[in-house]
Amino acid sequence: MTTNRKMPKTFYWGNSVSSMQTEGAWQADNKGLSVYDVRPATESTTDWHDAIDEFNRYEEDLDLMQSMHMNMYRIQISWSRIVPDGDGAINEQGFAYYDRLVNAMLARGIEPMICLYHFDMPLALAEKQSGFLSRDTVAAFFRFGKAVIDHFADRVKYWITFNEHNLYFTDEVFHISGYTETEQSVDHMYTIFHHTMLAHAQITKYIHDTYSELKIGGMLAYTPIYPATESPADAFAVRKQNEFTYENINSLFVGNAYSPEVAQYIDTHDIDLDWQPADADLLAATYADFLSFSYYRTMVLDARRIPANEVPNRFMNHSTAENQFLEHSEWGWNIDPLGFRNVITDLYNRYRVPVFPIENGIGIKEVWDGEHEIQDDLRIQYHEKHIKAMKDAMFIDGAKVLGYLGWGLIDIPSSHADVEKRYGAVYVNRTNHNLKDLKRVPKKSFYWFQNILGQNGDTL
Ligand code: BG6
Repeated sequence: MTTNRKMPKTFYWGNSVSSMQTEGAWQADNKGLSVYDVRPATESTTDWHDAIDEFNRYEEDLDLMQSMHMNMYRIQISWSRIVPDGDGAINEQGFAYYDRLVNAMLARGIEPMICLYHFDMPLALAEKQSGFLSRDTVAAFFRFGKAVIDHFADRVKYWITFNEHNLYFTDEVFHISGYTETEQSVDHMYTIFHHTMLAHAQITKYIHDTYSELKIGGMLAYTPIYPATESPADAFAVRKQNEFTYENINSLFVGNAYSPEVAQYIDTHDIDLDWQPADADLLAATYADFLSFSYYRTMVLDARRIPANEVPNRFMNHSTAENQFLEHSEWGWNIDPLGFRNVITDLYNRYRVPVFPIENGIGIKEVWDGEHEIQDDLRIQYHEKHIKAMKDAMFIDGAKVLGYLGWGLIDIPSSHADVEKRYGAVYVNRTNHNLKDLKRVPKKSFYWFQNILGQNGDTL
């Protein structure tokens, strides 16, 4: 039997970024400070002030995306650009920038997807109330989110609230939620996570109640984890970490409340997560129109590495990249297209909600000599293998997939503020400490994307 691998005509192909990694213009038009704006550069990293200056160069960047036949760009609306102190008056000039950006996308046939939060808490809320540790921040986020949704509902169909929501249920939470205490306790981790879930549920409810044609999804960072051996202890540890890191949160996205295993853990460990009785109804009323995620790599867990009585949310802290079956990037990230297929298929089998990988790619160290095209064959192979694996999930396993967005396909600084870790099909001419001319230079993979997306991915 031959399988038809023709992609749906409505499939989304595109690029995905966060605002602080892309926009620059950190003080333009009354933007307030976010926690990122006050992080200084180090010897090996940049500051966040200029990024790739898309604020001033968006027309050129969108032309490049259009030329690659992209029809979606996932952006983030920076909270501190719209509400400079996080909880006060709206800055209309902030909206004016995003109006220009969104209108320029639509004019090129590129649909926007908007993310409302990608780790860059307004500084005032971090300093005043330790970010999402406070329930007041949930209310402030809802006011910001509602203003953004009302403003763009006529032009933007796809929405997500928190980038990589599962990171708020791990130790990462203390770096991405505006947290300013030193305690970093389990109570605080669970409280912040719970608050972000309430914020997600409030925004979801608002969208569903007010704009029936809009779609809102959950968004997780998927790093699937393999058992190091055939030992039952490894299988047990992997299952437990999956439950705490992914399944519990997916369940919450579709209105199923906390997983029984997580709820039992909360009970038996007397965890105070600022639970209030009305929270149950709010969480139960939520539902996701799609489940989106980032995917870069897989890791391995050896139960013997996990200290006794370790909190399951911290199991991943003891994982390793070592995997004799996989090659890895210069940054030690395992390259695993089959892992990608597994996530897509498993998510769809389990939740029966359309799946949307909205971040995928490989970081490579590249230097442009000012003349020759960068030969990024490794990046071409990476995307080719992952797109093929996604198509296997769709055409062999039966998963429903809405689209495929690559991460930072015009170079942006990595999450560690390192411009030298590049994901782009287009080179941006700057280094960590020299902004040079920020020229955009297509790499070999640019032309590969142009060819593949121009045929709607049908040839893979
Ligand atoms: C995701 C984040 O985890 O991965 C991005 O949403 C990040 O902010 C991306 O840039 C790639 O990771 P890194 O560390 O290589 O930039």
